[in-house]
Amino acid sequence: MSATTLKDTALALVAPGKGILAADESHATIGRRFEALGIPNSEEKRRRYRQMLFTTKGISELISGVILFDETIRQAADDGRPFVEVLASEGIIPGIKVDRGAKPLAGAPGEQVTEGLDGLRERLAEYKKLRARFAKWRAVIAIGEDGRAPTRLGLEANAHALARYAALCQEAEIVPVVEPEILMDGGHSIERCFEVTETTLHTVFHALWEHGVALEGLLLKPNMVLPGTTSARQAPVEEVAEATLRCLLRSVPAAVPGIVFLSGGQADELASAHLNAMHRLPGPLPWPLSFSYARALQAAPLTQRAFRHRARCNSAARSGAYTPELERSAV
Ligand code: 13P
Repeated sequence: MSATTLKDTALALVAPGKGILAADESHATIGRRFEALGIPNSEEKRRRYRQMLFTTKGISELISGVILFDETIRQAADDGRPFVEVLASEGIIPGIKVDRGAKPLAGAPGEQVTEGLDGLRERLAEYKKLRARFAKWRAVIAIGEDGRAPTRLGLEANAHALARYAALCQEAEIVPVVEPEILMDGGHSIERCFEVTETTLHTVFHALWEHGVALEGLLLKPNMVLPGTTSARQAPVEEVAEATLRCLLRSVPAAVPGIVFLSGGQADELASAHLNAMHRLPGPLPWPLSFSYARALQAAPLTQRAFRHRARCNSAARSGAYTPELERSAV
């Protein structure tokens, strides 16, 4: 295994001013977006939609990598070039979602564990041939209303799967993006989200260490520390930024080359504002902070112009330069 190559790829994914586009939605998830716009959810429509994103002019200055779905990594643009080639020719690093979704965890009512480890070594070898240089695995952690979930069982099952996935990725010389997502759903407070995020991250990094995963050759994709969507008290932007950084500083080792946030259902402008506010707090930080958004880059009407605008806003947020004027200045 070449730790240098893994680290170089990880650092390229968090290069200044750039972030990751997560375009790896399952057929069901992208289908919901299409349905709202009256677009049939066919393979060809999904191909054309992703082509629209990947061929947006100027996007390679704002987007460092794209996470693809299994179907998409095998598809080609209208000119016959595989999408991975279209992206690589622009200097955008192709990635692949390799988990097979979160399923109910036996023995832990209301909790989920992510599946997809069986045959993963072979699938990674194939994705490597298809030119994927990084991968994603999402663990889903819900905060229960009764204060019980997540349980130790749930946290450890998910951390164990993330660590096995990350070790297999590094063996295949693919950078693992390690994504333990604490869901925003529910009425919990920002303090409870802080507590669960901190416990989850400690559990995940312990599992990564036990499995011999090189921290220098991965990226962490965490949630921001937020109150639940139905919480009576929503937190101001600065409080979210401060809580998120305090939580990460307590739980993410400095050897990690970068942190790329998920958006998790936040409104797109808020996801930019939160990332921006983190960059306005006094530093320095041990790791670059960037974005790996799906919904917060694609929530606006499906046009190249809207996509470029959101990418530009998030790129600016990486240096604390996102402003209301920039938000209004869609070009
Ligand atoms: P969201 O930004 O929509 O949360 O998606 C990121 C992602 O890749 C989820 O796995």
